[in-house]
Amino acid sequence: MKASELFRGRFGGEPDGVWLAPGRANLMGEHTDYNDGFVLPIALGQGVTAAAAGRPGRRLTLCSRQQPDDLVEVDLDGLAPGRVTGWAAYPAGVAWALEATGHRVRGACVAIDSDVPVGAGLSSSAALECATALALTSLAGLDVPRGELVTIARRAENEFAGVPTGIMDQSASLLCRAGHALLLDCRSLETWQVPFDPAAAGASLLVINTRARHELADGEYGRRRAECEEAARRLGIPSLRDLTDVADADRLADPVLRRRVRHVVTDNRRVLEVVALLRAASDPSADTYREIGRLLTQAHVSLRDDFEVSWPEADAAVEAALAAGAAGARMIGGGFGGSVLALVPAAADQGSGPVRDAVTAAFTRHGWTAPEFLDAVPADSARQLTG
Ligand code: GLA
Repeated sequence: MKASELFRGRFGGEPDGVWLAPGRANLMGEHTDYNDGFVLPIALGQGVTAAAAGRPGRRLTLCSRQQPDDLVEVDLDGLAPGRVTGWAAYPAGVAWALEATGHRVRGACVAIDSDVPVGAGLSSSAALECATALALTSLAGLDVPRGELVTIARRAENEFAGVPTGIMDQSASLLCRAGHALLLDCRSLETWQVPFDPAAAGASLLVINTRARHELADGEYGRRRAECEEAARRLGIPSLRDLTDVADADRLADPVLRRRVRHVVTDNRRVLEVVALLRAASDPSADTYREIGRLLTQAHVSLRDDFEVSWPEADAAVEAALAAGAAGARMIGGGFGGSVLALVPAAADQGSGPVRDAVTAAFTRHGWTAPEFLDAVPADSARQLTG
């Protein structure tokens, strides 16, 4: 275990425990979380591990295998938004958010390792927050319910690291179950485990990391949020969740806001349609996966044309995957870079091989960096591994 090795090398001695929190891929419902809507993520097999030990006093020392030159030491009593920047803002932010919610943590040494590619839209930062949250609460002997940890990890991201995300990623990392997708109602925060095991039907779910990250990303995410809020205000509703009829978008004079609303309303509906398909078939067949695939591709078109958050590498990956036999594919995450999710049905020969080859060939033709592929197998949420 690499995090433990790093711990021994950096701090000496053995960690008190090792905790793992997964990254996520979202099956359906993009940019719906901050509109109080529905999302349907799965946890990935890839994740962040934190090997940690308590220490006397109030100092938190952080190191990461991915940032070998950094050893970040913070005083738990001096933490405030803006005081820590870069990767360490996420774990330090968790300590801050725990204390801000009344959970007193203790000084600790934490060594972090990750196999979630950074910038791939697979929530490596949420995984980092959630692994740290489990480590710090366990070391302090605190029993904080998972639902509350989700809110605390999100506070770290929003208020401490200053990234204005919704609640999907932390929920996925802390609440998902193997063999299931997590249906989350982002208004009530109710969750349901929906059986989802494509491999059992011979299908596979493929993450294609397009390895593209566009500069605009951060500002554009905030801009989309603001547009959705403005549309809700003009429509006189608390949030876009309150619309179910896509025709309501036409009440807006502004064509950009109309498109944004159309995406949110139709994506919320697609989440519920995927859930209905999965629940209707106790043993989902290739046909069910073809239907889900069709919805995935519809969602991509909506994200590309109505929400306008796709990017050229994602569009090319979707097109190549479909041409090579995928049942459906779409970009996932916030957009402007990151990954595409492709559902490859049992009927396609040789599993996801032809899809991988076709996407790689398309990237070569464009002269782009070769994509990276990960098998997305719905995995368990964050947990303690040892200690
Ligand atoms: C990012 C955010 C999430 C969500 C998605 C888009 O991953 O962290 O909260 O808004 O974008 O669905």
